[in-house]
Amino acid sequence: MKLEDKLSTVVKQMKPSGIRKFFDVAKQIEDVISLGVGEPDFDTPWHIREAGIYSIEQGHTHYTENAGLLELRKQICDYYKRRYDLEYQAETDCLVTIGGSEALDNCFRALLNPGDEVIVATPCFVSYEPTVHMAGGVVKYLPLQHQDEFKITPEGLKACITDKTKLLMINFPGNPTGGTMSKEDYTKLVPIIKEHEIIVISDEIYSELIYEGEHASLAHFPEIKDQVLIVNGFSKAFAMTGWRLGYLLGPSTILQAVIKIHQFAIMSAPTTAQYAAIEALKNGQKNVDAMRLAYKARRNLIVDGFNKMGLPTHLPKGAFYIFPDIRPTGLTSDEFCERLIKEQRVACVPGTAFGEAGTGFIRVSYASSLEEIKEALSRIATFVEPFNLTSTK
Ligand SMILES: Cc1ncc(COP(=O)(O)O)c(C=O)c1O
Repeated sequence: MKLEDKLSTVVKQMKPSGIRKFFDVAKQIEDVISLGVGEPDFDTPWHIREAGIYSIEQGHTHYTENAGLLELRKQICDYYKRRYDLEYQAETDCLVTIGGSEALDNCFRALLNPGDEVIVATPCFVSYEPTVHMAGGVVKYLPLQHQDEFKITPEGLKACITDKTKLLMINFPGNPTGGTMSKEDYTKLVPIIKEHEIIVISDEIYSELIYEGEHASLAHFPEIKDQVLIVNGFSKAFAMTGWRLGYLLGPSTILQAVIKIHQFAIMSAPTTAQYAAIEALKNGQKNVDAMRLAYKARRNLIVDGFNKMGLPTHLPKGAFYIFPDIRPTGLTSDEFCERLIKEQRVACVPGTAFGEAGTGFIRVSYASSLEEIKEALSRIATFVEPFNLTSTK
């Protein structure tokens, strides 16, 4: 018997994450500067860690309600009202999940029937495509363009709609491009989403990391608010990736269906992390603001550095990634990243790891110290020198 034959066809066809591949290479080379992974370099602020520790000391070592501690759900709803002026009911419209990752997976599983189409704005976070496939859905790619600052245009959206379209998967501020959508940008999409009765999954995990302007959400439009599911979490804003905590906000009819899956697959999100998250929402805004300021300084330095080298890079308004155009070197995204890590010990991720639309680009994370970024820029400048590029600054 070949055990491989026992694996599900969907899983056999799944490609390993292009990010992990480079991360693993980076770990084997000494003195590598990794601008490859998408997680804050900051540790979780102390008062949040202490709240987690204290909860254990108090004996909060049991399951919580399936949907998460009511106190946490209330804090999440208060936070969304306070920060983004959006109202949700803690009792019915909120589910605490294992990271935004679980929320995304559960949404696809709760909403998709075999053959339903999901429009995915791409280049995009690596989990969207495989989790849509696992839920039996079909991905329709909506390519985002450098010249549009990686925003969705109404024409682009319309071109992807068919009579099988059920969901639209978006992520602003976006991984890997740092692209954002303003309220005006969304205004043009709203009539299309309404007319075609599309459910939107809005991954807002980087909503706190916006450097110019304000965070906008399709849920801000009352005429389609009930069609929007918001995915968010604590990983990026509060530097809590390892705690594995996120949440889903949306209309109760869909939320209650998602909770059924969560109930049987997960039971409840980690209890210690839930107590820490209450503290994060109550008293962590100052930490978020300080981290945002630090990221902004890094972003300015790194975007400037890439443009000076002759690798055109748009100034992203959010998240902690830049998405430089490496086509002037004549190398493919893969060749660029493979040679860069071997020749100059700097790890970045090929744009193609985030979908075909990332061809000719690389993703560079600036969730690293200013010193590391400066050293990485100097190494990358040495790497691109032989290509005689023209500075775009
Ligand atoms: C766009 C996007 N969504 C979701 C996630 C998953 O985050 P979490 O740690 O909350 O599962 C990530 C993590 O990198 C991400 O970049």
